[in-house]
Amino acid sequence: MDFKDLINQQWTLNTRPDPDVIISNFTYNESPVRAPKKGEVLLKIHYLNLAPVMRMYMMADGGGYSTERILDIGDVIHGRGVAEVMASEHEHYNIGDFVQGQVGWQTYKLSRMTKQEKFRKMTPRKLPIYYGLSALGMTGYSAYCGFVSRGQPKKGDSVLVSGAAGGVGSLVIQIAKAMGCSRVIGIAGGQEKCAIVKRLGADAVIDYKTEKVEKRIEDLLPEGLDVYFDNVGGEILEASLMHLKKGARIVLCGAISEYARKEPFSLKNYGLVRQKGADLRGFFVYNHPHMYEEAETKIAHWIREGQLEALMDIEEGFKNVPQSLIGLYTGTNIGKRIVKVSEGPEINY
Ligand SMILES: NC(=O)c1ccc[n+]([C@@H]2O[C@H](COP(=O)([O-])OP(=O)(O)OC[C@H]3O[C@@H](n4cnc5c(N)ncnc54)[C@H](OP(=O)(O)O)[C@@H]3O)[C@@H](O)[C@H]2O)c1
Repeated sequence: MDFKDLINQQWTLNTRPDPDVIISNFTYNESPVRAPKKGEVLLKIHYLNLAPVMRMYMMADGGGYSTERILDIGDVIHGRGVAEVMASEHEHYNIGDFVQGQVGWQTYKLSRMTKQEKFRKMTPRKLPIYYGLSALGMTGYSAYCGFVSRGQPKKGDSVLVSGAAGGVGSLVIQIAKAMGCSRVIGIAGGQEKCAIVKRLGADAVIDYKTEKVEKRIEDLLPEGLDVYFDNVGGEILEASLMHLKKGARIVLCGAISEYARKEPFSLKNYGLVRQKGADLRGFFVYNHPHMYEEAETKIAHWIREGQLEALMDIEEGFKNVPQSLIGLYTGTNIGKRIVKVSEGPEINY
C-alpha cells in the first residue's frame, strides 16, 4: 500500500467551552500518514460518534466527569468511531477488520490498540457499519445495560424515559416495550420528536418544551412510575421524583440539561426518594463490559425481528464535525447523531 498520498485530517482543542461549545473551540489540521510500525495498525475512520459528554472532555475540570480524559489545548478531540484496518503490523488485527473504539476526531489513526482506546472488533452481521456507533455500539450498550442492570424492569412496569428522541432514549423506549413493560412514556422536545417517539412504540409522549412536565406525568401515570431512565437531569428529574411508586428505580444515565451550568443543579425534593424507598442509581456504560455481548445480540435480534429501529441522524463530512456536536446541545438531532467522514458508498459488514 502507498501511504504517501494519504492525508490525515484532525480537529484539535483550541479553546475551552465557556460554558457553551462554539466553533472557535476547535482547530482544523492536516498531516501526512505514515506506514504502521511493528505492533501498530493503520485505521481509516469511516464514521465518528458525537456524544453530549464531549463538552466535558474539553473543560479544564472535566465538568464533574472522569478526570482521566481531560484534553489539553492542542489535543485531538476525544471520541469513538467505526474504522477499517488498512494496514497491520499487529498480530491480532488483519486488513479488512472493522473495529469500533477510541479513534479521536481524525480521518486516520495509527494505533497500538491499547486497552485505554477500548477497541472492539465488530461482529459481522450484514448490517450497515455505522450501527457500531448506535444500536450495536456504546449507545445500544448504554440503553440496554443501563435499563436492564440498573432499572431492573419487570413485565407490567410503568417506565418514564427522558431524551426519548435521542440515541440512548429512543432505544430505551423500544427495549422497554420489547421486555413487556406495559406503560412506557417518553419525554422529548417538540412535536416532530414526540411523534417519532410515539411511532417507536411509546404509549404517550410529553413535550417538555410546551407542556407542564410534572402535571403530565401525574395524568399519564396516576399510579406512579416503577423506572425512570434519566438522560437529562435538572427540572425533569425533579418532576419525575414527584411520581415514584414504592421501590422505584431511577437510572441516572445522563444530565444534558446540566452540562453547561456553572453550578450543579440541586434537587429540592430528593427526600421523596427516602419516603418511597426508591433508588437513585448511577450508571456508567464502561462499568458493564461483561454485558456488551448480551446487549448486542439481543438488540440485533430485535432489529431483525422488526421490533426495534436504530433511529439515526447521519451528517456528512469531516469539516462539519464541530457544528454537528454543537447541535446536540440545542437538540437539532433526531436519534443517534454520527458523522460520515469517509467518502464512498455505505458499507455493510
Ligand atoms: N452514563 C453513561 O455511561 C452514558 C453513556 C452514553 C450517554 N450518556 C448520556 O445519555 C444522554 C443521552 O446521550 P445521547 O448520546 O443519546 O444524546 P442524544 O439524546 O441523542 O442527544 C442529546 C439530546 O438531549 C436533548 N437535550 C438537550 N438539551 C436539553 C435540555 N436542556 N433539557 C432536556 N433535553 C435536552 C436534545 O433533545 P430534545 O430536542 O428532546 O431536547 C438532544 O437531542 C446524555 O446525557 C449523555 O451524556 C451516558
